[in-house]
Amino acid sequence: MKDEKLVPIVVELTTLMADYQIDYQKLRSNHWNILGQNFFDLHNKFEEMYNDAKVKIDEIAERILTLRFHPMSTFKDYFKVSAITEKEDLKTDVDMVKETLNDHKILLKQMSAVIEKAEAVSDEGTIDLIGAYIRELEKTSWMLNAWTKDTKDSLNKTPVEA
Ligand SMILES: [Fe+2]
Repeated sequence: MKDEKLVPIVVELTTLMADYQIDYQKLRSNHWNILGQNFFDLHNKFEEMYNDAKVKIDEIAERILTLRFHPMSTFKDYFKVSAITEKEDLKTDVDMVKETLNDHKILLKQMSAVIEKAEAVSDEGTIDLIGAYIRELEKTSWMLNAWTKDTKDSLNKTPVEA
């Protein structure tokens, strides 16, 4: 029997899974199509990232099943609910990283939406799973952001208490 109070969580988890499915394919495209001096670094990094996305897609689907719902399973439906869009044109290394960072922002926003709904009904299992994703994706985003910087750039100064 369907637990109605879990529906809002499942809706947000479904969108997160759809986001990750499209993100996964974009990362594969980057892995294949990267050209230039950064080939070896980024070819490997994108592979690491799509493998990570693959694991998370499965974990999210199985979380949905654990909550006793069926996961969405077709790309036709993923495109209907996801805010992540595909890009036809091939990109430079910098454009690929910037696009990936933008997709991370969409994923992080969706993860927050999941947490908000899970907190409303104290769904600790979902909070724990997705909370860890947020921490990991924020760290990956910092690293990719650092990659886009010039060596003479700097980060924010550590705040000092008055
Ligand atoms: Fe490969």
